[in-house]
Amino acid sequence: MLFKSFVLGLAYTAATNIAAPILRREVPQEHSHENILILMRDAIATGSNPQNLGDPVFGLLGDAAAAGGLGDTTDPDCLQQNLADLAFTNAKAAGNVTLMTGALIYRALERNTGSVGLASVACNSTTAVNSEIAAISQHQDPASTGAAAINKAIVLTLAQQIASIGGEPQDALKSGTFAPGTLGDPTAAGNTCDNIVDEGCINADNKLVEDATADEINAAVSGVAASSVAATTADAAAT
Ligand SMILES: *[C@@H]1O[C@H](CO)[C@@H](O)[C@H](O)[C@H]1NC(C)=O
Ligand SMILES: *[C@@H]1O[C@H](CO)[C@@H](O)[C@H](O)[C@H]1NC(C)=O
Repeated sequence: MLFKSFVLGLAYTAATNIAAPILRREVPQEHSHENILILMRDAIATGSNPQNLGDPVFGLLGDAAAAGGLGDTTDPDCLQQNLADLAFTNAKAAGNVTLMTGALIYRALERNTGSVGLASVACNSTTAVNSEIAAISQHQDPASTGAAAINKAIVLTLAQQIASIGGEPQDALKSGTFAPGTLGDPTAAGNTCDNIVDEGCINADNKLVEDATADEINAAVSGVAASSVAATTADAAAT
């Protein structure tokens, strides 16, 4: 518990320290989905952390701040993926589908970027160990080019991966982000929130924009084989 508070304190300090130079990063929103960060921390805590990765909040920060959570790794653009991969591995070993689902959703969350409308770069230096994590990429700034279509595709892929492990596919909608900010907004405030509440301020403040309808999710997962769901769940439960 002490250790956890210490890490959280560090993460918060890192986030606070770089909040001033607005040009360095977009709107702070790394705590918007605190509900998912909580699942990630639980998932990671069920096993070991061989690369000494930092708190999951680091994976949602821009490169400069993300560097504080890299542990033994080197690429800030892959930290979100690597944290998700670690959490998924540990949750799978623990046979906990809730925590595995949390890791999948985390992988799809939007990451802070330098300005409103700027998309974050893909992780291209490492491949996730878990194919379920490797299949997913992060939400893009809703004000960036083509974001609505890109983010919908990400959510439908996420729903399929959740279905494949025997989770609730509609949970993919929890990865949704905010309404688009105004390009060139001098405050870079967008429509975001970043206060820390357990349910996630994006939920508490009713700011989450769902990327797809429930029917679209159902249609997307209808092709996911029941046998693969059963096999993966059984596998997770057995380990
Ligand atoms: C899975 O993890 C959640 C969140 O930590 C916990 O509440 C739940 O009891 C766990 N389920 C099992 C079956 O261990
Ligand atoms: C990987 O991403 C980095 C950072 O965006 C970029 O500079 C580099 O060219 C990319 N490499 C490949 C092989 O795509």
